[in-house]
Amino acid sequence: MYNSYRLLICILFVLASYQMASAQESDINKISLIIKQKQSTPTILKQAIEIGRERALLCSVCHGTDGNSTKSDVPNLAGQNPVYLLEQIEKFADGRRKNYVMNSLAKDFSTEDKINLAIFYNNMPVKPASVDKNLAQKGKQLYETQCSSCHGKHGAGSTSFARIAGQQPIYVFETLKQFRDNANDDRLKKATKRKSSIMEPIVKQYSDNELRVISAYIAQLH
Ligand code: HEC
Ligand code: HEC
Repeated sequence: MYNSYRLLICILFVLASYQMASAQESDINKISLIIKQKQSTPTILKQAIEIGRERALLCSVCHGTDGNSTKSDVPNLAGQNPVYLLEQIEKFADGRRKNYVMNSLAKDFSTEDKINLAIFYNNMPVKPASVDKNLAQKGKQLYETQCSSCHGKHGAGSTSFARIAGQQPIYVFETLKQFRDNANDDRLKKATKRKSSIMEPIVKQYSDNELRVISAYIAQLH
């Protein structure tokens, strides 16, 4: 009796999270469709960029005035793909991804904010970081064989895969390390700031040094 009760709770929980996930997905699909429409009309696009720029004033303290962060542990948002950006904002808002500031900020965005912010950042050009050329060269082969299938040969990503070209090297290194350590240690999974069932198995076997050279290669991609 007790067991079937537990089973029922379990099924309800799975159903509820499935519904939540698909509701979020359809929200993101709707918003990204609006973004596509706005991007296709130059005057509307220009307006959205200006509203987005104003809304991003607070963000610029950390992410830079044009989405090129000046802190190597804070990600650039410039040139980021709208769907990826929206997904991450959703993850901060519901706590699947953890960062104290971002968790509280993301909860307050209206649909309008999300649209304008995503358009603003998407239209800002990324400035690649200057990194040690030798280090970057060592990461090239690993990147091209292991990462480019999703993130693109030049790191531009796609509709939903993150753009990583020019991304801040320390941020990339720390992020990859989180994915790797999650994959290797069950205890860490509970405390981790960020999870990804796709990225974790990919970087599971990498050494710190391999992650460092890949991060350098990514940071200088145009
Ligand atoms: C106090 C600094 C700070 C401010 C202000 C801030 N952010 Fe962030 N943001 C961060 C940090 C740090 C991360 C990386 C968190 C992590 O992965 O640990 C981040 C991550 C993000 C990401 C995910 C990027 C990626 O590549 O995955 C998005 C999107 C984002 N911020 C949007 C915003 C927006 C929009 C605003 C303004 C409304 C904002 N942030 C304000 C520090 C800040
Ligand atoms: C099968 C597709 C796939 C492959 C191959 C792949 N990635 Fe990813 N990557 C993803 C997805 C999906 C995410 C978003 C994870 C999330 O939701 O947080 C991601 C996220 C990332 C991020 C975080 C971006 C940001 O702005 O925070 C980095 C960095 C990254 N990947 C680097 C790599 C590297 C380096 C490799 C090769 C060793 C690689 N990826 C291979 C799918 C892939």
